[in-house]
Amino acid sequence: MTDSQTGTYSAISRANHWIVSLAFFGMLAVGFYLEYGGLTREARGPIMALHKATGTVLLVVVAWRVIWRLSQGFPGSVAGAMPSWQVMASKAVHWALLAAIIVMPLSGVLGSLFGGRPIDIYGLFMIPPFEKNEAIKSAAGFAHTVTAYALAGLITVHVAAAIKHHLIDKDATLVRMLTGRSATAEA
Ligand code: HEM
Ligand code: HEM
Repeated sequence: MTDSQTGTYSAISRANHWIVSLAFFGMLAVGFYLEYGGLTREARGPIMALHKATGTVLLVVVAWRVIWRLSQGFPGSVAGAMPSWQVMASKAVHWALLAAIIVMPLSGVLGSLFGGRPIDIYGLFMIPPFEKNEAIKSAAGFAHTVTAYALAGLITVHVAAAIKHHLIDKDATLVRMLTGRSATAEA
């Protein structure tokens, strides 16, 4: 049965959510550190290589995560009588998050390869660059930067909403994503 049929998140959906969340916290932190950390060229090199290799692997993970979500649907809200603007806002934020986690690694990979730079996957193998294309390279770079900020904002709203559901509304929204149980003890 799919998540939309069971009304909760399966173990696979929960693993997908938490593994990708953790990975994106790390990738955003390292990305902003590369950009604003005042690193020297020498110090930047190996961290950038790690950022690129991990991000490229994540493109595959995220493709699987998003296809899985599309095939499962969403389980619907547990929060009972939620105002309709909140239901709509949560849908909009979830779709925007799913889009952003694809755009980040995709724009990174395209920016690198169309910038004429290869991607070294942890020294195991190299993805060779394409012929340089300045227009695609800068569009991808722009998308990478803008989406990074958008994603940081979306995650802030998303986590605040999860905490609010748990602590203030005291509903099972967060518990369902942690354990798969979709009802509170009293319900
Ligand atoms: C998987 C998710 C990824 C996240 C969350 C992420 C995040 C970030 C962030 C926050 C920055 C700093 C802001 C900026 O200037 O753009 C950045 C920069 C950068 N990232 Fe990523 N990144 C990801 C994947 C990748 C991949 C797969 C590549 C290349 C294969 C890549 C290559 C770069 C490069 C080259 C920069 C420096 C951009 C510049 O100096 O203009 N990133 N990334
Ligand atoms: C501490 C951090 C986080 C918490 C506490 C959290 C909590 C939750 C909860 C409780 C839900 C279920 C919402 C519902 O049933 O209506 C959810 C869904 C979702 N979250 Fe998070 N989340 C976190 C981080 C993230 C991050 C970093 C991302 C993206 C990079 C993300 C993306 C999503 C998406 C796309 C959904 C929709 C369902 C799915 O496809 O998994 N979350 N989150």
